[in-house]
Amino acid sequence: MSAIETKELTKVYRTYKKAPGLWGAVKGLGKRDYQEVRAADGVTFSIEEGEFVGFLGPNGAGKTTVLKMLSGLLNPTSGTAQVLGFTPWERKDAMKRQFSLLMGQKNALWWDLPARESLELNRAIYGIERGSFTKIVGELTELLDCADKLDVMVRELSLGERMKMELIAALLHSPRVLFLDEPTIGLDVTSQKKVREFLRHYNGDRKIVTMLTSHYMQDIEELCARVIIIDNGRIFFDGPLSAIIDRFATHKIVGLSFANGVDCDFAGLGEIVERTPGSIRLKVPRGKVAETCREVLGACKVTDLNVEEPPVEEVIRQLFHEQEGVTAGKISQGKTSNTQHPTPNIQ
Ligand SMILES: Nc1ncnc2c1ncn2[C@@H]1O[C@H](COP(=O)(O)OP(=O)(O)O)[C@@H](O)[C@H]1O
Ligand SMILES: [Mg+2]
Repeated sequence: MSAIETKELTKVYRTYKKAPGLWGAVKGLGKRDYQEVRAADGVTFSIEEGEFVGFLGPNGAGKTTVLKMLSGLLNPTSGTAQVLGFTPWERKDAMKRQFSLLMGQKNALWWDLPARESLELNRAIYGIERGSFTKIVGELTELLDCADKLDVMVRELSLGERMKMELIAALLHSPRVLFLDEPTIGLDVTSQKKVREFLRHYNGDRKIVTMLTSHYMQDIEELCARVIIIDNGRIFFDGPLSAIIDRFATHKIVGLSFANGVDCDFAGLGEIVERTPGSIRLKVPRGKVAETCREVLGACKVTDLNVEEPPVEEVIRQLFHEQEGVTAGKISQGKTSNTQHPTPNIQ
């Protein structure tokens, strides 16, 4: 049996529309108009023990909804899911003891207490022995380099420090399944790297199942061999990260160096993505790479030529049709749930 299995998991949210003003409220007493959002629409996948899976998609795609159903915080509208053999929304104690959900945008720690006291509370809830508690906290704080922050009031911690404490709280009971929803969002680069290194180490060491959503492609590239991509509630890709390039990249990058400087006309051959006095990089449609190389070799004094795949981050960005609000290392921050885009090659 797989560690996580979903079949046709579907969640439809109903939001009631109220016409503005008092009249709207009065009318609302009778028949109410509602809007339906299919946040998850027939989601089917399975994840094996020890896998580290990236769960990607533009904002509003349905990632958090799926993770909330898998954590038992939401009941599905239809479909089934099993986490370690349990149906999550039955909220059995035995399942609660074996998984954790960490949401980067919400805090689970007590704001007005030092992290140590929140951890103590979790120790009591999970019935963890004093000895193993001390050992686990010691190990985790050392790996995350935050032992000196345990007695600082949570509200006084930096976002990065707080997220490290959140991670420790999430891992205190040594779960076998870990759901991480944007754990690095808004963190400074150094904390992001620390958290990333920690997650890689932890997953490698414990072989726990981890599902991670992140806006930062570097997180995904460094941690996840497999990615599941969701859009408009539907999964349209599930496979190795590298296969995204094979499957969705429309272009390759052709790099050319010249003996006597760049003296050719590249109009019509491809978009120039980089240019130095002695070299040029062109973005060329995949089907035209050979033809373009032949043409350039025939017309110019080329000293070196190489053909590269585009970066996976760029391919994913294109896939999500995201141009606005994109900064280096991020897929997007913009709201895209209402944008209509074709779903590429639904599996
Ligand atoms: N509680 C809710 N009520 C109504 N609609 C919701 C609710 N939560 C999320 N949605 C909608 O469901 C869709 C998926 O949201 P979400 O799962 O948060 O996406 P993601 O985590 O991928 O950004 C979005 O269109 C969002 O606006
Ligand atoms: Mg989300």
